Amino acid sequence: MNVNNIPTRTIRPASDLAADARAVDIIDQTALPHAFRWLRLSSLAEAAHAIRSMQVRGAPLIGVTAAYGVALSLVRHADDATLAQAIATLGATRPTAVNLHWALARMQATLSPLPEAARAAAAWQEAAAIAEEDVAQCRAIGAHGLALLRPLAEMRGRLNLMTHCNAGWLATVDHGTALSPIYAAFDAGIDVHVWVSETRPRNQGLLTAWELAQHGVPHTVIADNAAGLLLARGEVDAVIVGADRIAANGDVANKVGTYLKALAAQAADVPFYVAAPRSTIDFACASGAAIPIEERAGDELRVVHGCNEGGQPASVRQLPASEAVGNPAFDVTPARYVSAIISERGSAAASSEGLLALYPEARHGRAD
Ligand code: MRU
Repeated sequence: MNVNNIPTRTIRPASDLAADARAVDIIDQTALPHAFRWLRLSSLAEAAHAIRSMQVRGAPLIGVTAAYGVALSLVRHADDATLAQAIATLGATRPTAVNLHWALARMQATLSPLPEAARAAAAWQEAAAIAEEDVAQCRAIGAHGLALLRPLAEMRGRLNLMTHCNAGWLATVDHGTALSPIYAAFDAGIDVHVWVSETRPRNQGLLTAWELAQHGVPHTVIADNAAGLLLARGEVDAVIVGADRIAANGDVANKVGTYLKALAAQAADVPFYVAAPRSTIDFACASGAAIPIEERAGDELRVVHGCNEGGQPASVRQLPASEAVGNPAFDVTPARYVSAIISERGSAAASSEGLLALYPEARHGRAD
């Protein structure tokens, strides 16, 4: 997608270094939407920190960054112990998005059988392949999502969509998951408007608003608590969100607050779509009850970050450090509230039958 009309991806190998010096550049998402800046990751520790501190975020992008993190760790030594330590360090950064563990398992399976001397180059190649596949899959999600949205748009004459958190190109390498069909609809000339929920406490909705503005897609930011009213009033034609992990039965873990939107959408008889690639589906996880939910630091609620009127970064404490705070970062939407899963292979019911129809090879336990 474009930033200031320049085609941009969220992560890229650093191109200005000597051939044997390796690094990756990421967009620092903790600075957005107030400032757009690149950050260089040159070590395993920096990659792990970027994921943990949410300089990179969003399930697919976390997975790609972890793959590059493994590659960064093998630049000097590529023995078994170094590889195992990289995978353990990155695997401990964030628990809910399964794309992280999927990418690490893939790196391990590719690199372990290789002689040490071949591992570093192979790691960069595999990380780049994961990134390229993510781009292609997100593009395909856009096309399949558009096929679902087009009849709605024809019926209504325009499309009022609602999303939660940021499942746009910033959360992936390019295109996004939930926002990919929205971009496809907009590019196809459909009159589309997006309700963007703020997504307290980390305010990922502001990233969504920034992205949509860069692409020229009409949108309105709302407080999270306004979603039920808009749905009940008939001001939303469909809700579309991403996912951090989809269990084998179709239950969906996504940013906290997703479940409330699904309940309100069901009550208002509005379709509720979940867009995600294969790397987000955890066939080993029987149901949402088994999905680990990340609990993040209480200061994410106690302290609000933004910028002052002069455009400088600023923070405001709204609760004393002594105030008890609960901060679960994700929730689980039971499959029965999900109208369809949109993947790179098409759309299907949120159920074990639906997911296996998309990925029949998972029936035999193949990793794909
Ligand atoms: O905590 P975050 O910002 O990493 O959470 C992101 C989400 O919950 C997204 O909706 C999800 O990862 C899908 S991203 C394509």
